[in-house]
Amino acid sequence: MDLQDKCAVVTGGGHGIGRALAEALAARGAKVVVADLNGERTKKIADRIGGTPVVCDVGDRDAVTELVRQATSAYGPVDVFVSNAGIGDRGPDLASTPEQIDLITRVNLLAHVWAAQEVVPSMVERGGGHLVQTISSASLITGPSGMGYTFTKHGALGFAEWVSLNYQHKGIVVTCLCPNAVNTGMMGRNEDDDAARDDRASDPVRQNIGEIVEPELCAEMTLAAMEKGEFLVLPHPRVGESFMRKANDYDAWLAGTNRRLRRMRGEEV
Ligand SMILES: NC(=O)c1ccc[n+]([C@@H]2O[C@H](COP(=O)([O-])OP(=O)(O)OC[C@H]3O[C@@H](n4cnc5c(N)ncnc54)[C@H](O)[C@@H]3O)[C@@H](O)[C@H]2O)c1
Repeated sequence: MDLQDKCAVVTGGGHGIGRALAEALAARGAKVVVADLNGERTKKIADRIGGTPVVCDVGDRDAVTELVRQATSAYGPVDVFVSNAGIGDRGPDLASTPEQIDLITRVNLLAHVWAAQEVVPSMVERGGGHLVQTISSASLITGPSGMGYTFTKHGALGFAEWVSLNYQHKGIVVTCLCPNAVNTGMMGRNEDDDAARDDRASDPVRQNIGEIVEPELCAEMTLAAMEKGEFLVLPHPRVGESFMRKANDYDAWLAGTNRRLRRMRGEEV
């Protein structure tokens, strides 16, 4: 896909993987709308890449409609929508409140649905378009993340598969980025402060999380997959290997992962 002058929206574009994706899309000539909850970062990144900032809470259905309206009025109909914004939750228990469950479901899952409802009909009318979904390895192989993160990411991958199955012959290409650990806000990084804390030291799960890749690698791999029309982007090859092990013997994979997670949390196994 030639990205020159294409209208691209990146949610969560103010920091981390979204920031890197916005920069990579702009470097290939796309006109980028940087959408984020954080106004300062939205403006900073949009200014840096010559894009348009839109402060937006993707967990609000009406705000997603308004985001697409503003993007269309700035650069014309949306050609690429990157649903990247996401939030985490912690803990190996079921103790999330209804409010926490509602919030993570809206931001990590329903925002992908709402964005597709807003942009896909016009993409189909115009002969095609691209949906990029930043999901997570947690959608393929459940790991140390919390309950809400896990079920919303599984749901987001299921939704992305559904869109691809039902719209690929109408020109819609879906690309899902499913990384394991990435050096972003979710891992304690603050791009506005180079001296920011790295909270891995105080967190046994993060100490044992394995390779942490840079957001730029995720962005470059995603753009390469978009250019080839590929569905799945795995910056950590071991995620694909574990997914294969799960498919081959689900029960053995569950038992082995249970032991691994308990060891990661410092429990006696
Ligand atoms: N960092 C990792 O290890 C990792 C691994 C797998 C998947 N991911 C996924 O990558 C995506 C991006 O996260 P990141 O790692 O770059 O984290 P990050 O915290 O660096 O960036 C997330 C950005 O999203 C914005 N945001 C949060 N809630 C929002 C909302 N409701 N509306 C609009 N913007 C909102 C934040 O302000 C922030 O700028 C998420 O979907 C996350 O689940 C991250």
